[in-house]
Amino acid sequence: MVDKKVLLRLPRVVVDEDTGRRIVLNDLEEYFIPVNKDFHGNGFVVKQDLLEKNGFFSVGKDSFAVFPGSFNDFFGNIKRKAQIITPKDLGSIVAYTGIGKDFVVMDAGSGSGSSACFLSRFAGKVFSFDVNEENLSVARKNASFLGLNNVFFEEKDVYVEGLFEEGFCDVFLLDVPEPWRAVGTAKKVLKQGGFFVVYAPHISQVQEVVKVLPKNFVVQKTIEVIEREWNVSEKSLRPATKDFGHTGFLCFIRKVF
Ligand SMILES: C[S@@+](CC[C@H](N)C(=O)[O-])C[C@H]1O[C@@H](n2cnc3c(N)ncnc32)[C@H](O)[C@@H]1O
Repeated sequence: MVDKKVLLRLPRVVVDEDTGRRIVLNDLEEYFIPVNKDFHGNGFVVKQDLLEKNGFFSVGKDSFAVFPGSFNDFFGNIKRKAQIITPKDLGSIVAYTGIGKDFVVMDAGSGSGSSACFLSRFAGKVFSFDVNEENLSVARKNASFLGLNNVFFEEKDVYVEGLFEEGFCDVFLLDVPEPWRAVGTAKKVLKQGGFFVVYAPHISQVQEVVKVLPKNFVVQKTIEVIEREWNVSEKSLRPATKDFGHTGFLCFIRKVF
């Protein structure tokens, strides 16, 4: 991974002497930055020598913390070309399939490589396929940015089952516009007991998949993961004023024989 660090500009609050009211001058600000040069933020500059050390320091009236980035800091900064599967949905895929180092995962389409890269943190190997060479190139760069060596990207049409090896994977994650066209591939590539996970923005796409499932595939459950963020501070406890953005539906299907 390139040498990047997390820089936090800590919140600054002053108390108005006349009214006693707290005035927030700036909220917590988080940056993910290279450490080989000075960092110019909005109204402040942090010199390179301060970024090279880890810890807490002040510049003028501002206070900062700096520490090395971990996987999620890098993951949050990958290039996005196609629409990605977000962490809340990826977390559910790991939780409900139990992906571990003894698992081989197939992922299609690769898109920006978000799902392939995230799952490769848990799986032994991830093989990811896409028909678009430009997307594959972004996905490969993202995997290299994240320092991953167990995720492999290849140009293949997931609707053509003849292109894939038989019974090689434990989980097949499918995120393509017409997922029902890849059911034959799912039937071929999964081991017995393996999981076919369909991620789709529209519930009608899931229904089309279910309509054409072979007898040896059973639907375990279809979910939409809704994440509700809250603001918690000394003075208030309330849901953050954000919409529950819809991402997609997840359908968990098992190859039972
Ligand atoms: C929404 S993106 C996938 C995003 C990816 N899961 C991620 O998290 O970054 C959908 C991808 O499917 C690819 N695609 C479309 N049809 C395909 C097919 N028949 N075979 C393989 N990939 C396909 C598109 O090129 C696109 O990159």
